[in-house]
Amino acid sequence: YGELSLSRSMINSSDKIIRKGGSSIFQHAVEGWKINSSLVMEIRKNILQFLDAERDVSVVKSSFKPGDVIHYVLDRRRTLNISQDLHSLLPEVSPMKNRRFKTCAVVGNSGILLKSGCGKEIDSHDFVIRCNLAPVVEFAADVGTKSDFITMNPSVVQRAFGGFRNESDREKFVHRLSMLNDSVLWIPAFMVKGGEKHVEWVNALILKNKLKVRTAYPSLRLIHAVRGYWLTNKVHIKRPSTGLLMYTLATRFCDEIHLYGFWPFPKDLHGKPVKYHYYDDLKYRYFSSASPHRMPLEFKTLYVLHNRGALKLTTEKCV
Ligand code: CTP
Repeated sequence: YGELSLSRSMINSSDKIIRKGGSSIFQHAVEGWKINSSLVMEIRKNILQFLDAERDVSVVKSSFKPGDVIHYVLDRRRTLNISQDLHSLLPEVSPMKNRRFKTCAVVGNSGILLKSGCGKEIDSHDFVIRCNLAPVVEFAADVGTKSDFITMNPSVVQRAFGGFRNESDREKFVHRLSMLNDSVLWIPAFMVKGGEKHVEWVNALILKNKLKVRTAYPSLRLIHAVRGYWLTNKVHIKRPSTGLLMYTLATRFCDEIHLYGFWPFPKDLHGKPVKYHYYDDLKYRYFSSASPHRMPLEFKTLYVLHNRGALKLTTEKCV
């Protein structure tokens, strides 16, 4: 890992830049950004030693039969039954098989996107990845609308769609999915116990409404493999966030990865408050050591990679 080794001192020095440097230093680094293709290739090769995103992005139909019992990835004592509905929505082959793109956007959900005017730039990428079914239409100028791949933690059903209690919640959900056409909808259904009934309801709605969206359910080994890769690079992350998972997967398919909406800090570089999510009122929760995610550490890691030309992090307005 000669080239990429993210030593503690590199991460700490980027910490100082973020805390002390203010906008001028950060801006300078952004303006001077240039892709480092050999580093991009090296990172892809190294990640491939841990996972193959083409395969691990989703289990396929032939991996299971209805009635199979599997253990949750992060909760091994608990089990899940593969239902008929779930089985019928498993893809025959990986939805990312042989897909390659020159440029990709991975869009995180930070409020830093508000008033960014980045919508057009985000939509200009060949492949756009979004997280947790974040709304786009009302925020199009800042976040764009193109969504080729979108994730959905089971908790989204509760958080954004009222737990499907009312018909109107279900309609809102079906409408949101129908806007995706045949994009990939990525549902981490096998990670932790708790969301199984939400996943079942989602599956039932997709089938009932004959939605075209292409469902994908990450492999049982993905999260361990991603964690293993970052651990080997001295980034100690117990549970990678969706955004980091998406960047890690995207290295397989994309020559140039641009990140937007990654800013896990309550203030911007000019001291102005930043919402945790651009679209809701969720509060910052990820600063205690009890939290499963370590978004600030992830951010510092991505910032180091940005400065080395491995990816492009946009945290200011788009021009
Ligand atoms: N993100 C960020 N800064 C924020 C909010 C989000 O950098 N203030 C990035 C993170 O990489 C995050 C991604 O955007 O993973 C998507 O945001 P969210 O939907 O909140 O992510 P999850 O990791 O799925 O969080 P949770 O486990 O709470 O569902």
